[in-house]
Amino acid sequence: MTFPVSRLRRLRRTELMRSFVRETRLTPEGLIYPLFVCPGEGIRKPIGSMPGVCNLSVDEAVKEAREAKSLGLQAIILFGLPATKDEQATGAWVDDGIVQQATRAIKREVPGLLIVGDVCLCEYMSHGHCGIVTRSNSVAGEGAAAAAEYEIENDSTLEILAKTAVSQARAGMDIIAPSDMMDGRVMAIRDALDEEGFENIPILAYAAKYASGFYGPFREAADSTPQFGDRRSYQMDPANFREAMLEIESDLDEGADMIMVKPAMPYLDVIHAARERFDVPLAAYQVSGEYAMIEAAARNGWIDRERVMLESLTSIRRAGASMILTYFAKDVARLLG
Ligand code: PBG
Repeated sequence: MTFPVSRLRRLRRTELMRSFVRETRLTPEGLIYPLFVCPGEGIRKPIGSMPGVCNLSVDEAVKEAREAKSLGLQAIILFGLPATKDEQATGAWVDDGIVQQATRAIKREVPGLLIVGDVCLCEYMSHGHCGIVTRSNSVAGEGAAAAAEYEIENDSTLEILAKTAVSQARAGMDIIAPSDMMDGRVMAIRDALDEEGFENIPILAYAAKYASGFYGPFREAADSTPQFGDRRSYQMDPANFREAMLEIESDLDEGADMIMVKPAMPYLDVIHAARERFDVPLAAYQVSGEYAMIEAAARNGWIDRERVMLESLTSIRRAGASMILTYFAKDVARLLG
């Protein structure tokens, strides 16, 4: 049917009509609100590059979690800023680690809220990398030789990741979300959880995580900037799509229950393909840089904050992500709840 019989504008004339035929609905369900927990008491330290986001001491994180739940959110994800860092990421897996403390407190004070544990080591490592670093003795030199001066070890890192996951589960974590991008981490974590009696704790794998410039503000928030080099030897090349499918497939083979694509808006094609191809719950992470860009442009009066916030999240959901990690979670819940 063509014009003039067909007139697509008929269904766009009023908000009532538009809402009636809307294909994608943005709701607070499925949004995951990130919290950055730090030592101390009564602390709410604002993150300069992420307006509205703070480092929170455990007591403040409890308040934030309570507010999130009262707004209708179902889930938060915890990141930790430990008091001290070392080269074994001790703060990630000790019983009284900052994330473990926050988990216990939130579970106790705010029942009925899902807590997702980001399992990664960069925040706890003095060098800021996501795994064990070995420095080779090779002569320092130009190009390839210089690049080979250090290595992020894969297999020895798996043990620490598994230990971290188990200690989070012991603290009451509902969902374990490895974000390190080591090979074999899902299997290592699944085995360790099962061995400790946590066979019912699901794994949400950051399956396709790209080495992205959009993580900049997060590294301020989590104090996790690598002290040397970058994350390109473990996170994915932004140019690769097929490799993302392989990453997802291997995480699912290893036992992941849910998968994630990260960042979100620059990778909507990957989200869409993952939705078509894999029949498990799919999450996407609207990362710190995506948030910061919207906030900064809005502050300059260049875009309408609310409108762009809702449009960006609707687009991520339209691409196929049913769960979205977003720093806007509370604002969305307030608007749509
Ligand atoms: C830990 C981790 C990062 C993010 C989530 N988990 C940082 C990184 O990989 O450098 C980024 C989240 C964001 O930018 O909002 N590895």
